[in-house]
Amino acid sequence: MMKRTAAVLLAGALLLAKGQDRSYRPQFHFSPARNWTNDPCGLVYALGRYHLFFQFNPEGDQWGHMSWGHAVSSDLVRWTEMPVAIREDAGGMIFTGSSVTDRANTSGLCARPGCIVSIYTGHRPKSASAPQVQNQNLAFSNDGIVWTKYTGNPVLDTGKADFRDPKVFWHEPSRQWVMVVMLPRERKAQFYGSPDLKRWRHLSDFGPAGATGGDWECPDFYELPIDDDAKNTRWVLKIGLNPGHLAGGSGEQYFIGRFDGERFTNDNPPDRILWVDYGRDCYCEFTFNNDSNPPHALGWMNNWQYAGKVPTSPWRGQMTVPRTLSLRTTPEGVRLVQMPAAAIESLRERAFKFRGADIGVLNAKLAARSSGSSSYDLVATIRPGAARQIAFKVLDALVGYDVRSGRIYVDRTHAGDVSFSPKFPSRTEAPAPLRNGALELRILADRSSIEVFADDGLVVLTNLVYPKSPAALSLSADGTVDGIDLQLWQLRSTWQRSHIR
Ligand code: FRU
Repeated sequence: MMKRTAAVLLAGALLLAKGQDRSYRPQFHFSPARNWTNDPCGLVYALGRYHLFFQFNPEGDQWGHMSWGHAVSSDLVRWTEMPVAIREDAGGMIFTGSSVTDRANTSGLCARPGCIVSIYTGHRPKSASAPQVQNQNLAFSNDGIVWTKYTGNPVLDTGKADFRDPKVFWHEPSRQWVMVVMLPRERKAQFYGSPDLKRWRHLSDFGPAGATGGDWECPDFYELPIDDDAKNTRWVLKIGLNPGHLAGGSGEQYFIGRFDGERFTNDNPPDRILWVDYGRDCYCEFTFNNDSNPPHALGWMNNWQYAGKVPTSPWRGQMTVPRTLSLRTTPEGVRLVQMPAAAIESLRERAFKFRGADIGVLNAKLAARSSGSSSYDLVATIRPGAARQIAFKVLDALVGYDVRSGRIYVDRTHAGDVSFSPKFPSRTEAPAPLRNGALELRILADRSSIEVFADDGLVVLTNLVYPKSPAALSLSADGTVDGIDLQLWQLRSTWQRSHIR
């Protein structure tokens, strides 16, 4: 017994010595075992599994030596980290891009049809003898494990210093590959077409439009049915903005419109801004190419204002939960809807249900159920009644609702460790009118993050939080509420399994 205790203590000490900060390690979100990550990139379903690549520094926990890290999954929640797929070389760094399945071997790069071709931005920093250059390049893989850079790189080079983040997909109606790529400083999305991924022809430009307060980066472009009607579709052009987001720092907007194989036309006036996520910490959200219906997307859960300072070790950076995307008609127009992917439900355990109006009774039960756990899935419908202010305490932050303004908020101003950056403490909010007199919420908490889905997915707020000793989940209100209908599940960890090679 003594020996066993000593062994456990020793193992614990070793973990601490290695700086393994286990309390903040996401349990059902992807994070690399160690080192720095920013944007997800190259997301694709290919060769029988989901591939998640990510901007990765193989050498440390700050941005640098950018390469494509790699992880695979069959269900989007249990990830296995693989060896680095595309590594920085003497030619420069490997920035964000996308991956496609080349079914007809149009590129001629596949040993057999159906290989994965990844299209990435090569970034050559400014040197004493040459200016900075960003251009588009290919790498391919026949087995989904090892990538080879194409010897004819770059495939698209305009000599520009800022020209990055190609999103490439097969556009069946015009029978060509289409690339959307950014001119960040000019706030423009450029469209190119190609028969073989190697020769690219400029098709059109979109922008500036919407929010233009920072660089435009990380475009995504996909077609979705409106209200599940496959005959009535629109294209979503999603664009990262750094800085200039509503909540401060980096964040994302989207445009809805039509695409004829050459040109995107915005359905809305050019000054209409639609935000993808109202929180501080969702950037470069990308869909998986070649995915099922509905499509899934995930983003980098961070903000360039403080990404290099977040207090985690030996890794820095994590992804959002995978989300399913759809379009819905609202009184204000057609809008993007995001909900956690159904696969999250496969992690649910220890279900707890409450129906009533007595907050004291609810909190006593919640204290017994949720103390000590900080990875959970909460679904709640609340009829505010006489209350004007309602708030859940989640991982030391407040997820609240102001009945008068009809706005939902996440306040992490005093939640745990906020000291590492003056930009971190914050309160983010979004419009979420009551529906039939009720507030509907889904909240995913995972040790160091809170994702709030309100108004049936029309509004999302993603925020990091670093609780010191997370309080049990609880509810408060400034008056008696009419009714609370709540379900809570603990979510099983996928972390242990994730990183066994
Ligand atoms: C966005 C971004 C991309 C770029 C990558 C570099 O976060 O700046 O535009 O490709 O990060 O790591």
